[in-house]
Amino acid sequence: MLTEEGIEILDLPLKTGLVARITGAKPGKKIAFRTDMDALPLEEKTNLPYKSKKKGKMHACGHDIHISVSLETARLLNQKKSELCGEVLFVFQPSEENGKGALEILKTGVLDGIDAIFSLHSSPLLEVGQVGIKEGAITAAVDLFKIKIHGKGSHGAEPQNGRDPIAASAAVISSLQTIVSRNLNPTDQALVSVTHIQGGSNWNIIPEEVLLEGTIRTTNPETRAFVSRRLTEIAENTAAAFEEEASVEIENAPPCTKNDRELAGYAWEVAQKCGLEPIRPEITMIGEDFAYYQEKLPGIMVWLGVGKTKTLHNPEFSANPRAIDVGARYFSEMILCFKR
Ligand code: NI
Repeated sequence: MLTEEGIEILDLPLKTGLVARITGAKPGKKIAFRTDMDALPLEEKTNLPYKSKKKGKMHACGHDIHISVSLETARLLNQKKSELCGEVLFVFQPSEENGKGALEILKTGVLDGIDAIFSLHSSPLLEVGQVGIKEGAITAAVDLFKIKIHGKGSHGAEPQNGRDPIAASAAVISSLQTIVSRNLNPTDQALVSVTHIQGGSNWNIIPEEVLLEGTIRTTNPETRAFVSRRLTEIAENTAAAFEEEASVEIENAPPCTKNDRELAGYAWEVAQKCGLEPIRPEITMIGEDFAYYQEKLPGIMVWLGVGKTKTLHNPEFSANPRAIDVGARYFSEMILCFKR
C-alpha cells in the first residue's frame, strides 16, 4: 500500500519490519511514528469475518489495528504533503512482544536526528473516540528472573538423607512477596510474580532441584535495582537456611515507558481539537519496548480506545475497527501541527 501511494521505503538492514518516509514541502521538525506489528501464539476465539487466518496465531494485542492506523495516517499525510513541514518516518517495528524490536530499529541509526517519536496502543478499557493520555510512567520496567534451588535428592520416605528443594522453594516463594509488602514504600509501584515452578518427577522422590521463574515490574530505576537485589538476597539466604543453594539470574527487559510532559500536553490539546475525549489513564504494569526509544528522544505513547472488550492477550480480544479512522485522523493532525 505504501508503494502504491508513492511513499518512499527506506533501505535498511531489517529482517522484518520497515521504515517509510514522507518529506513535507516545507522545512520543519523530524518526527517518527512507531507501530508494532507482531501477533501472539494464541488460537483466536472470536467469530469475526476478519479473524486470524493463521492457526495458533492471533493479533490479541491489537497490533493489527496499530498497523492499519499507521498506514491510513501515512496515506492522509501523503495527500497533505504540501502542508507538511519537515519529515515523518513511519516505523513498522517487529518483535515488540519479546521486547527486542525497538533495539533492532535503533541499531540501524534511522532515528538519529529525529525530534520526537509518537506511538499508540489499543486500549480495551476505552470506547472508540476516547484516548488515554498521561505524562510520565504509563507502563512498567520488566525484568525476568530464574531461581534454581539446589538441594539433595533422596527417597520420599527418607527426608533425613536429603535436602528438600521443594520445601525450600515454598519458603522462597512466600518470602519474595514480602519485598513489595514489607520492603518498599507503600506509595511505590512494584510487583513480584512467581509464574512457573518446575521440580520433581514422582510422588516418592525428593528431587535434586527446583526451578522458579517469574517477573519483576517497577516504575523507577532505584526501585528496579533494589527489588532485584532483595530477590537475590532472599532466594540465596532462604535456601541457605534449608542448607541448600540458590542461583539467581535476572534478565532486564524494557525499562518503564515514560511519556514526555510537553508532548502529553500537546497530544491532549490535539485530541480536544479533533473532537475526541482525552482521559488520564492509570499506569499499567505491562511492558512496552517503546521505552527504548524514549531513552534516546522525547516520545509519547497514546492509548487509543478500541471499544470495551476482553483484555489484551485474551483469545476473545476484539477491537472495534471504527478506531482505525479515529486514530488516523488524530495522529495525522498531531504530526501535521507539530512545531516544537
Ligand atoms: Ni501490544
